Parts: sequence; structure tokens; C-alpha cells
Amino acid sequence: MKGLLTAGGHGTRLRPITHTKNKHLIPIANRPMLSYAIGYMAEAGIEEIGIIVNARDREIESEFGSGEEHGVKLSYIEQDAPLGLAHVVQIAEPFIGKDSFLFYLGDNILVGGVKKFVEEFEASKSNCHLVLSRVADPERFGVPEIEGDKIVSIEEKPASPKSDFAVTGIYLYDSSIFEAVNGIEPSARGELEISDAHQFLLDTGRSVSFSEITGWWKDTGKPSDLLEANRLVLDNLTGVKAAKVDGKSSVNGKVVTGEGTTIVNSQVRGPAVIGQNVHIENAYIGPYTAISDDCRVVGSEVEYSIIMSGSSVENVERRIEASLLGHDVELSQSQIRPRAHRIMVGDQGRVEVA
Ligand code: TTP
Repeated sequence: MKGLLTAGGHGTRLRPITHTKNKHLIPIANRPMLSYAIGYMAEAGIEEIGIIVNARDREIESEFGSGEEHGVKLSYIEQDAPLGLAHVVQIAEPFIGKDSFLFYLGDNILVGGVKKFVEEFEASKSNCHLVLSRVADPERFGVPEIEGDKIVSIEEKPASPKSDFAVTGIYLYDSSIFEAVNGIEPSARGELEISDAHQFLLDTGRSVSFSEITGWWKDTGKPSDLLEANRLVLDNLTGVKAAKVDGKSSVNGKVVTGEGTTIVNSQVRGPAVIGQNVHIENAYIGPYTAISDDCRVVGSEVEYSIIMSGSSVENVERRIEASLLGHDVELSQSQIRPRAHRIMVGDQGRVEVA
């Protein structure tokens, strides 16, 4: 079995972060998002993975290279434009050949990996196996209609959903999916929809089985989803490692810190992860915070947030919470008069002051 992983798309909902960074490299608990998916595939015994990237995007390849570090062989497949998930499958056919494969949307994070789903697909002997999750708002997703252990229809973002399941971004296929993705037309939004390909399989008599995700699953499209995914991964944190802490500091709960990080007169309450060469002084770092390398948090409080490398938070009176800071961001409280908010923020930035 091969693997096909997406790392293209627009990432519009995560602007401005995605103006300068591929969404799939945004750190979740200080690891690039896509590394989780690669890890899940490796764990499921998948050795050859094709990664879909936007045309001329070299960022993903610079990060993951040949895949050796993860024990897999990675190939990069350029998509001219984000023309839909069925288009992704279409252009991957030369890479997949006649094999069956796991198609995984690289912005999905879940607990427990994908091994179980691979095994269930193989046992089902179906042409397509979908992984479903019960959601409160199925109208935002592809929604299956289920009879017994089979799916009988699938609609994309239906006004009246026929079940409370969402089709997640984890799909298993045999090669009949290529006939489907080549047999459908673009939707009203101009994309080749994967739900239409699934419906094509049903219409042409192919069997579509399913598994239900009972644990946590998140498709990280929005900033709040990233913070939730970060929380989930931090909740399952292992490998607690202490930083250099002075006598006036305390570190409680599960906290992982990198080399060269110093904590002075501060309180860190896990679960939290702090990268290398981070300086924390007169500060409070609360649960569900991930701070990447080379950051400074001084005279400030941060909780339930993701701070990317090279950023600083200095002397900010109010606690920073539910926030996402990109690389090399400077956040400080004005020490000069008049006391005012002086802001320089890029296109589509979002600042909420209190
Ligand atoms: P989406 O979350 O549907 O879209 P997006 O990433 O472009 O984000 P936004 O809606 O905020 O603009 O994409 C799901 C996954 O599929 C994600 O990993 C990006 C990837 N993708 C491609 O690689 N090619 C495509 O043509 C599309 C539509 C998505």
C-alpha cells in the first residue's frame, strides 16, 4: 500500500500566517503539522508516500527531504493549482500505479494514528473505505447516508444532512478511484470534489465501507482548530525534560523544554512545550502553550497559545491567551507616553486588544 498526502491548497482561513508559511508546516506542539501524518503512515507500515504540493513550492521538500528521518520514501508531486481533492488523486495516478493507497489530508490531526483504518480496509475488501466522525455540524462536510455496514450515498455540504457523520480527511482506495476522479465534472465552485468521486463509485456499483473515529479528530482549517490540535497533542505529551530553572521558578505538570532554555523567576504550568534557546523571565506560561526556538517571554503571561520561532512577548500586562504568533513577531507594551497601541501588522492580520 502507498500513501498520498496533501500539502497544497490555499490556506485562506489561516492568513496571514499562510502568506509566508505553508499551512502544513505550522507547528503543533513544536512539530510541523505534516510530520504527524507522515508518522502515522510510517506506523501503519506505509513506506512510499507521495506528497502533493503547490506548483513551485519547495518548502515542504526542504523540511522533509527524502523521508529517511521518518523511515519512509517521499516523492513530491506538484499541483498546478488547487483544483480540488479529486484533482489531487487524478494527478497522483502515475505515482500510485495499480496499488491500493491511503489518501490523507495533511491538515487533519487525530489520536491513535491510521493503522486500524488500513487494517479495516484490507479486511473489508471494499473498493473504498471512508473514515467517519460524528460531528455537531455535518452540513459543513461531505455527509454519508448509511445502511447497515455500507454507505449508500454521499453529499457534499448538504442543507439537510442524511446522518450526523462527517467524512474525515482519511480515505482508502483501490485503483477504481481513478475511473471515478476521471469520470466527474467540476462543481459549481470549480473544483473536482472528492465527494462526487465517492458518489461515482457508488453509482457504478463499487462497495464503500467505513470506520468511525471514536477518539479526537480535527481538520485544522481555522486558527481556533490549530489551538485545539495543539491542546490535544500537548495532552498526550511524553518525554518530559527539565530546563535550567532558577530557585525562584517553578515548573509543574508535563513540560518539555529544549537545550539552552532558561527560566528565571517564572512559573510554567504544563502541559506545555518550550523549544531551544528560549528565555523566560518574570513570566507565567500556562497550560497548552507551545513556544518554538529562540523566543523570549519576559514580564508577561501566555496561555493556550502557539508562538513560533524568534518571537518575543515583553512586559505585556494582560495575559496573552488563545493566540497564534508567527515567526519573529514582537509583542510588547508601550513604556512611553502617550500610552497608545502602536501596531504594525501585515495584510489580513488580526489583533484583538483589551
Ligand atoms: P481545504 O482545507 O479544503 O482547503 P485549503 O487548505 O486550501 O484551506 P482554505 O479553505 O482555508 O483556503 O484543503 C484540505 C487539504 O487538502 C489541505 O491539506 C490542503 C489540500 N488541498 C490540496 O493539496 N489541493 C487542493 O486542490 C485542495 C482543494 C486542497
